Amino acid sequence: MAMTGPIALTGAGGFVGRRLLAQLSPDRYPDVRCLIREPARLAASLRAPGWRAVAGTLADEQALATLVAGAGTVIHLAATTGKARPAEYTATNVEGTRRLVAAARAAGVRRIIALSSVAAGFADQRHYPYATSKRAMEQVLAEGGVPALIFRPTMILGDGSPVLKGLRTLACAPAGVCFGPGTLPVQPVHVDDVAAALAGALALPDTTGTAGLGGPEVLPFLDLLRAIRTRVRGRPDPFLHLPLGPVRAALALAEPLFFPVLPLTAGQLASFANPGTVPAEPWPGGLPRPTRPLAAMLSSLHA
Ligand SMILES: NC(=O)c1ccc[n+]([C@@H]2O[C@H](COP(=O)([O-])OP(=O)(O)OC[C@H]3O[C@@H](n4cnc5c(N)ncnc54)[C@H](OP(=O)(O)O)[C@@H]3O)[C@@H](O)[C@H]2O)c1
Repeated sequence: MAMTGPIALTGAGGFVGRRLLAQLSPDRYPDVRCLIREPARLAASLRAPGWRAVAGTLADEQALATLVAGAGTVIHLAATTGKARPAEYTATNVEGTRRLVAAARAAGVRRIIALSSVAAGFADQRHYPYATSKRAMEQVLAEGGVPALIFRPTMILGDGSPVLKGLRTLACAPAGVCFGPGTLPVQPVHVDDVAAALAGALALPDTTGTAGLGGPEVLPFLDLLRAIRTRVRGRPDPFLHLPLGPVRAALALAEPLFFPVLPLTAGQLASFANPGTVPAEPWPGGLPRPTRPLAAMLSSLHA
């Protein structure tokens, strides 16, 4: 029996969840239960007889009770991400987490390992309900009565990254687009380094608290966009700089009426208004540090 006992995983079918399952050893972790809305989507990732799908959502208390029954550790990755309405972020990221924590506490789970976001610590969270929901999620975990280890990743890149897809759209438009000067620093992290930190944390059952999770390189946002454009188009080309403040304000005004047709939200532009780096703070002893370089994060990009 592995030292963590059975694992209950939410968000198993997402970008990070699939990479985490690929890194976990079935010999070491023979019992993994995965919450997923459409179990058939997960079939290829369930590599051991004891790795099973539990059909349901974070709104379904019965499914959550089944998910966590007998589990030693919950790994909580599920979230409403990307473009969504404020109520959806609250329903999934705050109220869904609250239900999961209640189920875990009732089942005697020993620890929850969760992914929050660097955005939870953004000083400027105007019009950004994702960020406020992640901050509220952290509060729910802190008060939930189950020891928790919370990671705050920066933007997670790699093959299949939803964030990378969005940045590519901006960077590789006929004229590459940057909101504001693009001088604030970002510190992207490779999805396999995030998965390695999660997997490594399983082996450290007494580690709790909050830790920023960023990659080895810090660079201005504009340099990241230029690197993406160079990779896809062969050269960086000059960028079109749109005024960040007015565009955010205009999107915030337009969202209530035109949400379905807007290409992005005011909140998503918060990444251009806040440093996307992790503070220099002690890193939990024994955990693997992210090391994969930016070149590896962008290697899936092609013309
Ligand atoms: N990607 C990034 O750049 C980034 C950066 C910082 C933090 N994070 C955090 O890292 C975590 C994983 O992100 P990701 O990129 O893997 O996200 P993702 O690809 O969007 O996957 C989200 C997952 O959450 C699940 N989910 C959404 N709503 C749900 C609900 N109501 N009930 C149950 N499951 C639900 C989805 O389930 P189905 O598979 O059933 O659809 C999916 O598996 C999230 O907490 C995110 O906030 C991500």
